[in-house]
Amino acid sequence: MDYKEAKDAAIDIAKDAGKLLMAYTQKTLAYNEKSSTIDIVTEADQAAEVLIVERLKALFPEHHIQGEEGGHQGAASEGADYTWHVDPIDGTTNYAHGIPYFCTSIALATSACEPVVGVIYAPIADELYVAVKGEGATRNSEPIHVSDRTHLGQCVVVSGFPYDRQTNPDNNIAEWTAFAPKVRGLRRMGSAAMDLAYVASGRTDGYWERGLKTYDALAGVLLVQEAGGIVSDYAGQPKPQDRAEGRYLASNGHIHQQMVDILMSARQK
Ligand code: IPD
Ligand code: CA
Ligand code: CA
Ligand code: CA
Repeated sequence: MDYKEAKDAAIDIAKDAGKLLMAYTQKTLAYNEKSSTIDIVTEADQAAEVLIVERLKALFPEHHIQGEEGGHQGAASEGADYTWHVDPIDGTTNYAHGIPYFCTSIALATSACEPVVGVIYAPIADELYVAVKGEGATRNSEPIHVSDRTHLGQCVVVSGFPYDRQTNPDNNIAEWTAFAPKVRGLRRMGSAAMDLAYVASGRTDGYWERGLKTYDALAGVLLVQEAGGIVSDYAGQPKPQDRAEGRYLASNGHIHQQMVDILMSARQK
């Protein structure tokens, strides 16, 4: 498989999705609730997913497509050698409220769910993050690297809260509370893919979140790995995408074990 062709296609498509998302910001958006009132999908999520999926299907008919909004009918079935994991808007709550922190995230992964191409485009900042397995990571074509901070007290770490937090006691409050006194900055910014891209580019130093799906995470996972960082589950085990609970921990590597220790002890209390 030629990853360059896949990378170039994903870049073009993510940028066109970004234009579509910017056009929709001029309108009053129609939206629907999904699992609850805090979990919404807008007409722009759906239109962007259709755009992305139709283009991918035409270019790579032999690939499976996994998109958040389910608009992937007609693509090759599960079990194909490669799958595209597509999040048309990561950060829908921000997008719908006019908060300029959201992106389109597109990853190509093997049948073993190993990402090989990751593209994240944030249209408001006009930032394009790209990673190819074994070839490094870039932002707007410049190489990016994780930070070199080693002391948590000098670090900014980021997390997110799952949509089932109103009913599921595994709601991230214990973990959040455990980190708060230990770090320079603690942030909930609202887009898992962007949060991972920020770790990859050294703007932040670490990130954790439960309940991520492959379309939220895989492009950002590859970015962090190709930028020299580490991705694991909360216990430090690799490939969190293999486990249904979707607990992701990403960091610059230097603070990884410290983050594992905090997460493990918070979860035992
Ligand atoms: C969500 C965002 C958010 C994270 C949620 C995700 P969506 O994705 O990434 O930051 O906390 O877990 O589901 O719904 O905006 O695509
Ligand atoms: Ca998402
Ligand atoms: Ca989404
Ligand atoms: Ca969503």
